[in-house]
Order: sequence, then C-alpha cells, then structure tokens
Amino acid sequence: MICESIKKSYLKSQNLKIFGEGKLSGIVEISGAKNSALVLLAASLLTNERIILENVPSLTDIEKMGNILKNLGVNLVVKRNQLEIDSKNIAIKELPYELVNGLRASFFCIGALLTKFGEAKLPLPGGCNIGLRPIDEHINGLKALGAEILIKDGIVKAKLKGKKNRLFGTHIKLKCPSVGATETLIMAASLAEGRTTIENAAREPEVQDLCQMLNKMGAKIYDSGKEKIIIDGVNKLNGCTHKVIPDRIEAGTFLIAAAATSSSITISPVIPNHLEAVTNKLQESGSKITIKGNSITIYPKELKAVNIKTAPFPGFPTDLQAPFTALMTIANGESKITETIFENRMNHIHLLNEMGASIKLNKNVAYIKGVKKIKGMDLVASDLRSSAALIIAGIIAKGISRIYGLEHLDRGYENFESKLKILGIKINREFKKRTFTEKEYKIDQDPEDVPKCRAA
Ligand code: UD1
Repeated sequence: MICESIKKSYLKSQNLKIFGEGKLSGIVEISGAKNSALVLLAASLLTNERIILENVPSLTDIEKMGNILKNLGVNLVVKRNQLEIDSKNIAIKELPYELVNGLRASFFCIGALLTKFGEAKLPLPGGCNIGLRPIDEHINGLKALGAEILIKDGIVKAKLKGKKNRLFGTHIKLKCPSVGATETLIMAASLAEGRTTIENAAREPEVQDLCQMLNKMGAKIYDSGKEKIIIDGVNKLNGCTHKVIPDRIEAGTFLIAAAATSSSITISPVIPNHLEAVTNKLQESGSKITIKGNSITIYPKELKAVNIKTAPFPGFPTDLQAPFTALMTIANGESKITETIFENRMNHIHLLNEMGASIKLNKNVAYIKGVKKIKGMDLVASDLRSSAALIIAGIIAKGISRIYGLEHLDRGYENFESKLKILGIKINREFKKRTFTEKEYKIDQDPEDVPKCRAA
C-alpha cells in the first residue's frame, strides 16, 4: 500500500538535530537506487504481464511514482522493498498535475502511454530546484520516432502520427547525453517498428539497469553503457523479476561523510565500478580505499584539497557535487569545484559559508579555502543533494545543527538518519508538536516511526 501518512504539512514540521564533531564506524547497508527504481516503475507499464521489482527503496519519490501508476489503473502490491506491478488494466492515458508536480521522473510514462494507447497527455514535469531542466531532447526524440507533440499551457499532448499504430525506428543523435531523454527514448523504441539507434546516449548505470530489465522482458537492446545504443523494436514485452542496482549516490554520500570525519566505514552492497570517479577523488584527497567483492571500505588519512568537475558517467556525478563540497570546506588547501551539468546546483554554498566555510562562488565554480572548523547552526535545505551536504556539514561542525527542509532529503535517501545513527552519529528527527484539524492528526509521534513507513 502506498504510504499516505507523509504529507507536506507533516514533513515541513520536522528537522534533523545533529550533534556535531561526530565519528562514523561500522558497516552501512546501501539501498536500491532511486533513479533506477523510478524508471523501472515506468518501464513496467510497457507490458501487460506482472513485473516484480526487488530492492526498491522506501522514498517519497517512489511513493509518488507508485501513486501515478495506481492512478493509471495499475495494480501495485508492496511487500517490504519488493513491488509487484500489474499494468494489464491500465485505462487512463493522462497524468494529473497534482500527482506529477515535483516528480521529473513522471515524464517517463509518456513512451509507455504512447505505445499502449497511441496517445498521452501529461503536464510538464517538475523535480528538484536545480536548474531549467528542459525536455527538448525527450520531445525531439519522440517526434523522430513518429509522435506528434504539442505543448500548450504546461501540458504535453502526444499522439502517433497519421494512421500509424506504432512508433517507428529511427536514428537519433542527442545534443547532450541526457539520462532522462535516453531512458524515455529507449522505452519508446523498445516497442517501435524496426531499429532505433541513439547516439550520444547517456551511459549512467541507471540507464544500463533499465536496458537489463527491458532485455529480460524480451526487448532487444544492444550496447547499453556505450555512447551508441541500438534497439530493435519487438511486438510485445513480457513480465520479469528484476533487482534494482545499489544506489551509487547514497553510497558515495556515506563515503564522503566518513572522509569528512576521519572515520573508517564499510559500505555494502555496491557495484564498485559505478563509484570509481568518487573513490578516485577520495583517494586523491588522502583516504585509503579498499574494495572486496561488493563492498568498499574507507580508511581515514589527512584530508587534502582536490578539484572536481562534474561530468556525465563515468565522470564525477553531479549528484555528489554538494556532499563533496561540504567535505572540501575542511580540507587542507584550496579546491575548485566546477558544476557542469545543472546551472543552479550551488544552493548549499552560502549556507556552508554561514557555518564558517570560506567559499567564493563564481557562477558554477566554487573556490574553497579549507578551514580548520565550521560551526553548527540551523539551516534550511532547498534541494535533495544539498540537504545531504548540509547534514554532512552538521556532522563535521562544532556544536548543534538543525537541518530543515527534510521533504527534499526524504525524496532520495532511505532511512538516512537511522543509518547514520547506527554508524554512531548523534542525530534525531525532531517533530513540532502541533495538532491538525479534523481528518488530520497529531504530530507528536516517536521520531522512529517515520523510517518504518514503507513508501510504496
Ligand atoms: C537524472 C537524475 C538526476 C541526475 C541527472 C544527471 C533521475 C530521476 N534523475 O536527471 O539525479 O542529477 O540525471 O546525472 O534519473 N537537458 C536538456 N534537454 C533535455 C534533457 C536534459 O538540455 O531534454 C540537459 C539538462 O538541463 C541538464 C543535462 O541535460 O543540463 C543533464 O540532464 P539529464 O541527464 O536529463 O538529467 P535528468 O534525467 O533530469
């Protein structure tokens, strides 16, 4: 069942209280990848047979996607971190604004709806407040595959061109290797007539995970993880069971938190080569890293300043830029952090400066002079990854910090504070004791209740 207890009003009355100068030790279990699970949920719409998704993280973004699917008529059964998805009875080809708002991944449904109904209607997607986030690459690709698309008043209307009853294979060259556009087009092309090639495709592990699941379903996708992907359209896709890959961004966040506190931890399970850009930078900045099977252990050493520049996979992930910036605030020396993927992903800089960091920001380049100490304070996070950065900063800092804006954190990190607690960090979710009217409820429960609530 989709968890209905997490409401905006509820989340906004929470904060994380962090006692600074913490140390981490032990083993942390890494959850399934949010960005994989979201697109795999959309891909499950492409078949009338049952899909079983394992290792799905319990997150509000997944809950939202689950609600979108249910609204389309999908029968969704949740058993802990496993979802059973049965799309044979979907009957609706529209996504309502209230469900789509704030979830960029909702746009993934367009390909499936087009192939099932020959038409689709959905609002322009929302998402984290980190930049313009256009969808032209999705739209141009779908048009090349034979869709007619009209965008008016924030609504995208798509239908198959002329009297065609299928999309048709074509050659698409993306202007930039967009993860979302590559995924949308792979899904649409997998049931199109004939061969599609996507050049300058995104190579991210989540794209590869999607291709693996689609191939299990009977799709014919070749060379995922390379710059040119080939898709031979098939007439039908079948059901399957698929395990979501581990979340490389969550994994990287924990490694960075350990490096920031001179701590030694082991993260598991992970796919170490998904994290190579991050472990390389951590090693360059002084940490010792060892890899054993599907686990990575980090050992502390003196923290040196290093430069990073975000890039599409296999480059340094933009999603770890904010946490790494928090780490560099206390590194020995000067570092330069360059964000190249999103134009508005430096929301954490002024907050880190308020904590005592020394960072000069010039557009998307942050110049950091490492300081000995930063101080704890109350801060409001404004996007998902900057909330992780502020929590890391709170753990490093002297004194107590309170981090607000947890609706962002809860979108993308499963049981984050519980995992930090197990590793030895003093961190608590505080709830404002406040009574809501009538159908609502009292917010005076035990902070431990929230992580137990399964999202989808
Ligand atoms: C996905 C991830 C997000 C990650 C990002 C980059 C999901 C749900 N989210 O987002 O966590 O930070 O990849 O790794 O998987 N662009 C265009 N036109 C388009 C599409 C994108 O110009 O049609 C641009 C974007 O503005 C951005 C860049 O391409 O500058 C990368 O965006 P993209 O790879 O599409 O990111 P998302 O799929 O939105």
